[in-house]
Amino acid sequence: MQLIKRPRRLRINEVIRTMVREHHLMVTDLIYPMFVTYGESSKTEIPSMPGIYQYSLDTFLLALKEVVALKIPAVLLFGIPETKDEMGSGAYDEQGIVQQAVRLAKKHYPNLYVITDVCLCEYTSHGHCGLVEDGTILNDATVDLLAKTAISQAQAGADMVAPSDMMDGRVGAIRETLDLIGFCHIPIMSYAAKYASGFYGPFREAAGSTPQFGDRRSYQMDPANTDEALREVALDVEEGADIIIVKPAMAYGDLIYRTKQRFGLPVAAYNVSGEYAMVKAAAAQGWIDEERIVLETLIGMKRAGADLLITYHALDVARWLGRED
Ligand code: PBG
Repeated sequence: MQLIKRPRRLRINEVIRTMVREHHLMVTDLIYPMFVTYGESSKTEIPSMPGIYQYSLDTFLLALKEVVALKIPAVLLFGIPETKDEMGSGAYDEQGIVQQAVRLAKKHYPNLYVITDVCLCEYTSHGHCGLVEDGTILNDATVDLLAKTAISQAQAGADMVAPSDMMDGRVGAIRETLDLIGFCHIPIMSYAAKYASGFYGPFREAAGSTPQFGDRRSYQMDPANTDEALREVALDVEEGADIIIVKPAMAYGDLIYRTKQRFGLPVAAYNVSGEYAMVKAAAAQGWIDEERIVLETLIGMKRAGADLLITYHALDVARWLGRED
């Protein structure tokens, strides 16, 4: 057969396949989400997220040793407070669990990049991401507390803050407040395009943050919308966001792509808890090859345009990438 174009020529062996590979997954892409809580010597596995734990501060520090040894550059911290209240006061308490964890992490591992999730839902008794009055979520009063939260985290030593609440105007308010007190060098990674998703189920078990009434649809976005997401991203960019998160990731590749194309900022794909749980469950059954599926999923996010990958698979991925075979 006379064929001028034969694409298979460039697939003939691993050497040429590697040479023409377009996208690469690297350990420097990874951000590892971790849960810290009160207690001592405790490490409680989250039932729907095998391999992911709620750490007390001492076991958290031990876990960081492994994160650093694997050369994962960054962690994203979530806190589970001892007690919750209507105002979510544990979120902006100087002695709050995340603030303590940040201080500890930075003291022992100054080069580990520590990012903090800025939200109230892990700290409120009702489980919503904002203040509640007569069953509705108050936007502006919540924004004040989020700014307060971000400041207390930056003061504890956080390298970057990541607001995940989806209140209007919070990125601008956080930027302004951080700048006012001399933290103009702290970047904001904004959960700009965050959907009201069924994929957060296991996280809410991990953080004990399931809303006690209603749902999050009055602040997180409708999964049917993309133009709206681009408007959300545009607002956060105007307000000073440095990095944009698209969340969840697997079913939202179009948005990763469009955000990257339109704004050209660094984009982080959040490979969320439910995505992790599905892969873990199927792998435990022997139905899929976990390593292949995870690496394929993450490269898909990079192909779509993600620069950074927030993923619970980070430790495994770092091990797989670092393995010499
Ligand atoms: C807090 C927050 C959530 C996640 C990240 N930050 C939960 C939610 O919005 O309900 C979800 C992360 C995951 O599912 O892995 N607002």
